[in-house]
Amino acid sequence: MTPILNTPAWKHAERHAHGLRDVHLRDLFAHDPTRFQRLSVRWNDWLLDLSKQRITPATLPLLADLWTAAEVPGWIAKMRAGEPINHTEGRAVLHIALRNIGPAGGPIRVDGHDVMPDVQAVLAKMRDFCTAVHSGQWRGATGEPITDVVNIGIGGSDLGPRMATQALAAFRVPHLRVHYVANLDGADLATTLAGLNPRTTLFIIASKTFTTQETMQNASSARHWLTGALGAAAVARHFVAVSTALDKVSAFGIDPDNAFAFWDWVGGRFSLWSAIGLPLALAIGFDKFEQLLTGARAMDEHFFSAPPLENLPALLALIELWNADFVGLQTRAVLPYSQSLGLLPRYLQQLEMESLGKQIDRGGRLVGCPTLPILWGEPGTNGQHAFYQLLHQGGRALSCEFMVCRTPDYPLAGHHDKLLANCFAQSAALMKGKTEAEALVELQAAHAPAPDFLAPYKIFPGNQPSTTLLLPRLDPHTLGALIALYEHKVFTLGVLWHLDAFDQWGVEYGKQIANSLLPMIEGNAPMEGIDSSTAGLIAACKS
Ligand code: F6P
Repeated sequence: MTPILNTPAWKHAERHAHGLRDVHLRDLFAHDPTRFQRLSVRWNDWLLDLSKQRITPATLPLLADLWTAAEVPGWIAKMRAGEPINHTEGRAVLHIALRNIGPAGGPIRVDGHDVMPDVQAVLAKMRDFCTAVHSGQWRGATGEPITDVVNIGIGGSDLGPRMATQALAAFRVPHLRVHYVANLDGADLATTLAGLNPRTTLFIIASKTFTTQETMQNASSARHWLTGALGAAAVARHFVAVSTALDKVSAFGIDPDNAFAFWDWVGGRFSLWSAIGLPLALAIGFDKFEQLLTGARAMDEHFFSAPPLENLPALLALIELWNADFVGLQTRAVLPYSQSLGLLPRYLQQLEMESLGKQIDRGGRLVGCPTLPILWGEPGTNGQHAFYQLLHQGGRALSCEFMVCRTPDYPLAGHHDKLLANCFAQSAALMKGKTEAEALVELQAAHAPAPDFLAPYKIFPGNQPSTTLLLPRLDPHTLGALIALYEHKVFTLGVLWHLDAFDQWGVEYGKQIANSLLPMIEGNAPMEGIDSSTAGLIAACKS
């Protein structure tokens, strides 16, 4: 396959980008009053505004040619057919099967085996379990109902359900608290357990591999805490597991009846829809969890059928590629104007950076152009009082992604209109900036002392591109669609850059070194074969 960089579509986009290099966004708006209409896209009651990106209406068709040149539709077909498109691990990539539910969901096969009956069976088991816990039919070893659930997992076995539990807190079932523990630092588990009663606490040990150091350490400390209070027999009523490695779940001492399976064709960071979503289903109830799945499925259908210029995941991917490779931006800030979506940037960091933080393509060669920019972010308006100063006047070009809901999830009088005003004000300010002449006029009108002295400090260069995603409201269906939007964006970028977006070899090296350092830190092994800094740090800890 021709590398995307060598295609005519790439060369055309490059020439077009060259022509736009010195054009300021405020001029693009001034010259085209229809810019918003021409560069915003609607899907159901969603609105994606790309008009504040450094593009013109001519840009998007050129980017759509890249979608065609990279054969994205063909890759979608491969994914849907269960082909092993995670080529370095020889696995299918079928998180879409986990939400292929409802009347329209037909069979999905991996190596000739229809996975849908397995998916349905685990969903049914999750539903029964949620009902049993919520109704009080599932009781702890001393006969008391469960009041607290602690999910122990990390990465994809933590971030998705944790983010969604916070996002959907308005839908929480009463009388059940759900906590998340991920960090190897004992402070995470210890502070969580400090407020809990072993007799009414249920642990979910969530790990695809059931070997992850953090999770296994936290799980064994939790078991110690529980059995210390209630005895070893209590494990059966207080521990359940979610994993693809059911043999390891049994070896840990968890009853196979209390294990919820998923499969190696579900990547960790795409696993929220599997039994990894169990803590979320417990937090909001299984019916709401199903609404999350149907929301994701609605986005799947949109992604599979809409042409690229009307296709939200495709557009987000193409704009990301444009900014990374043609505008030269190195970071993107995700700025949800939603306290409930406060963990979304962290969730997207894993989804996007673990998937696309790579340079070697499917042919084993360098991609040859920058791939994913660094992703970071915080909810607005908090960020405005922290790092926005740099966005406005720090002289670094970056792209921002704003998102906000039309309807608030907590309708407190006086809040939401101000939130909307702040969100739209920031993208407007970043776009147009403020010239020195404008600053002077403002200062003079305000009768400021020494306007000439102050004016340079009041200049805003502007021309900072941004996307705004306007959502109807934050509910399970919308959240499901939102997460699926980003999953398909990641898929599309993987195809465009010809990367395997589904492996994560980059996280292995650190784990390998940590394993070799541990015996040295524990004091059983000589400090050999390590650099002087690492040896010095270990020695300082031990002294
Ligand atoms: O960070 C590496 C990683 O393998 C992630 O991809 C994964 O989500 C996380 O570790 C946790 O893995 P597991 O679910 O197997 O414990």
